[in-house]
Amino acid sequence: METGVLDNPTNHICFEADASIKSILYTKEELDSAVANLGKKISNDYKGKELIVVCVLKGSVIFFSDLIRNISCDCKIDFIGASSYGCETQSSGIIRMYKDLDLDIKDKHVLIVEDILDTAKTMDYLIHMLKGKKPAGLKICTLLDKKARREVDVSADYKCFDVANEFVVGYGLDFNEEYRNLPYIGILKEEKYN
Ligand code: PRP
Repeated sequence: METGVLDNPTNHICFEADASIKSILYTKEELDSAVANLGKKISNDYKGKELIVVCVLKGSVIFFSDLIRNISCDCKIDFIGASSYGCETQSSGIIRMYKDLDLDIKDKHVLIVEDILDTAKTMDYLIHMLKGKKPAGLKICTLLDKKARREVDVSADYKCFDVANEFVVGYGLDFNEEYRNLPYIGILKEEKYN
């Protein structure tokens, strides 16, 4: 198997999808460390508050599951299903919400967890929708912030990394529903999406 990126000594498992990756942007270890630091900060900020951490399906599911295990204050979790990309590389700009929250967030502190802020149209939609449910507070946490592509004025309250305008996959992020299971974040080879 071609393992062009596997000169990274920390990636112990060879994934078939490794061959589609041009270069690794963040290793599993770098992600673990950044998520642990973010979890500490969130834990301090929300101590004593009624916190509900919301995972935006599907891209943030890996980040979310690691993050909540680094949040030491009491919290509840919930999931919201929103998608805008379909099988394209560009956002359609039309958000399809296919799962609403199960919990009542009225008067609770809500932290929305995303894998990436790109145009921010998804987040903008979610903010407006969730504000209508009258939470005590609403903050945004993202793993990656791709500011170069922003079309709506939304900024993250918590984030791990700023990223350049490149097509990144892995650690929950997909192209055409593939690559989510990679334990690192990599830049996809152009021939895979062109
Ligand atoms: C991706 C990502 C964010 C959104 C960001 O979701 O997970 O939710 O796009 O893009 P935006 O800032 O331009 O709105 P996608 O619609 O691909 O669904 P998925 O999470 O199920 O992959």
